[in-house]
Amino acid sequence: MVEKEVERTIDALLEERREFEPPKEFTAQANANDPSIYEHAQKDPEAWWESQAERLSWSKKWDKVLEWNPPHQEWFVGGKLNASYNCLDRHLEESGDRIAYHWIGEPGDARSISYQELHAEVCKLANALKELGVQKGDRVAIYLPMIPELPASMLACARIGAVHSVVFGGFSAGSLRDRINDADCKILITADGGYRRGQNVPLKENADEALAETESIEKVIVVKRTTDDVAMSDGRDIVYSDLLESQSDKCEPEEMDAEDMLYVLYTSGTTGKPKGIVHTTGGYLTGVSSTHHLIFDIKPDSDVYWCAADIGWVTGHSYIVYGPLANGCTSILYEGAPDYPDKDRYWSIVEEYKATILYTAPTAIRAMMKWGVDYPQKHDLSSLRLLGSVGEPINPEAWIWYQEFIGAGKAPVVDTWWQTETGAIMISALPGITKLKPGSATVPFPGVVADVVDEKGEPVGPGSGGYLVLKRPAPAMMRTIFGDDDRYRETYFERYGDETYFPGDGARLDDEGYYWLLGRVDDVMNVAGHRLSTYEVESALVAHESVAEAAVVGRTDPKEGQAIVAFVTPRSGHEGNEDLSKELRQHVGKAIGKIARPQSIIFTDDLPKTRSGKIMRRLLRDVADGNELGDVTTLQNAPILDEIKKKADSQADDKDDK
Ligand code: WT7
Repeated sequence: MVEKEVERTIDALLEERREFEPPKEFTAQANANDPSIYEHAQKDPEAWWESQAERLSWSKKWDKVLEWNPPHQEWFVGGKLNASYNCLDRHLEESGDRIAYHWIGEPGDARSISYQELHAEVCKLANALKELGVQKGDRVAIYLPMIPELPASMLACARIGAVHSVVFGGFSAGSLRDRINDADCKILITADGGYRRGQNVPLKENADEALAETESIEKVIVVKRTTDDVAMSDGRDIVYSDLLESQSDKCEPEEMDAEDMLYVLYTSGTTGKPKGIVHTTGGYLTGVSSTHHLIFDIKPDSDVYWCAADIGWVTGHSYIVYGPLANGCTSILYEGAPDYPDKDRYWSIVEEYKATILYTAPTAIRAMMKWGVDYPQKHDLSSLRLLGSVGEPINPEAWIWYQEFIGAGKAPVVDTWWQTETGAIMISALPGITKLKPGSATVPFPGVVADVVDEKGEPVGPGSGGYLVLKRPAPAMMRTIFGDDDRYRETYFERYGDETYFPGDGARLDDEGYYWLLGRVDDVMNVAGHRLSTYEVESALVAHESVAEAAVVGRTDPKEGQAIVAFVTPRSGHEGNEDLSKELRQHVGKAIGKIARPQSIIFTDDLPKTRSGKIMRRLLRDVADGNELGDVTTLQNAPILDEIKKKADSQADDKDDK
């Protein structure tokens, strides 16, 4: 990362110096309240993780805790278990009537589903999948809105040993197609549509478009969510409810090896092609159940826990589906947007369901800050006892606001750092033990060994910026990239060797060993808590007939974390104007999904390049952020920068006028 950037971020973080000790009453009741847990885990990480694996139900105990052949790791080797059994069956005897999900649809419909009911639905779907020929190891694509059928579909796959690949409902037909093809999925589970801000999201239409260019899908299961009539292809498409009608609500869970694949989930890397992150069964479930229990301090018989992410991202996989269900707790599952029908939707849900724990993203918190305190203050939020944040660094101002206006000044705020690849939270406070510092994700979870190092891998020590690394395996970590183990090694281990995992984030340690995350250090952007690669957006842009060349950077944005700025050179005969700008935004939305649409497009005759022709994104980032330009001596065409800068400034002026 550019030095300057690091310094600026550190300065901003240091402005807020308040610290918060865990409230005594919280500690007294906390699942984790003995600081020696850290020492024990440090002394013998494997024994610690083993104790956490014992939280689960295994049909056969493991022979070995960890098999580490760097860069590969295997956990609980020889152990057997089933994820859906752990999430459902084992709770039935004592708490089958407990609500698993209070589901709330965006239009206002709602349904509360008990563990017993979810179990029955999962079994029926699992039987149906088997009838359709799905076998252990087969991949099933899932493209659904946030409805109960989504977790049910994931668990039905897990029950029979099929691998699910959930594709976020906001992704386009093209993104769905690429993911289906990469993992060779046999079945697609989708819906006629879903609701988002009162609009209908045409999932089935997108799916049909995607399926025109996939060969592996044999059957499509369609959940009826809306009242819309959608095209159904004869012999291929089946209505979900019809399929389940005749099925038995009993289905023996498949005994899985701890290291059998549970799911694949795609995330952006530094190339245009998303990576299929592979998670396996025993280690993953151990990691998510342990972190969920200790960080969110879950009390299954009294808490109403709400993770307001989408299941289409890893946050939802780990902390709406697998963690909470493995722990047998009651969750809220909300389908829609935070500002629909009005900007107090979250707070009316918290009040109505007496939510005790809320886990959301800084971008949402900042939006709520902007909307004003009147919205939360209209509601009784006194049930909330713990708050969580994830997805990007949370600025201290947003942290304090969250604690003050949502948590009534008393609820601890746990800022949790992790990634699709790590599967579970890696750096976070334990709210009954750890002193909090707004803006810091605090310390590594017990059993996680991290550090901040320089280019050469030397620890930088307290005070300076560097690169975050993880120095030991952890059970919920990814195992590989689907179908591309070479890329796994290159992406995460080339930099510091096979034993040191490099997540791609900058960080700083303070003198108490607290971690301050400083954002991505590669060509990956973080837009509203979602990861996107600059190359992905660039590839989409240059695929448009009017574009000769494009470079994309993330501009620091007060609301979204980063906003996408595209520098585009039009082909001759095409003019870079408002109309083209609109068209390109639409085009990118269609190619990837709405979240990938550039916030601004700056047309330019050329891009700043080194003599070898490499585009200098670093300089474009400076332009986008309105900073003084970094070193330009290696540029082949320096004058173009002045021109680009002028254009960018005049665009910024336009914005101010509005
Ligand atoms: C990237 C991972 C983990 C679920 C959501 C995103 C950034 C995530 C934090 C945090 C600072 C954070 C990192 C990371 N990130 N949480 N608490 N503080 N940065 O998952 O799409 O895999 O993105 O999000 O840059 O590498 P993801």
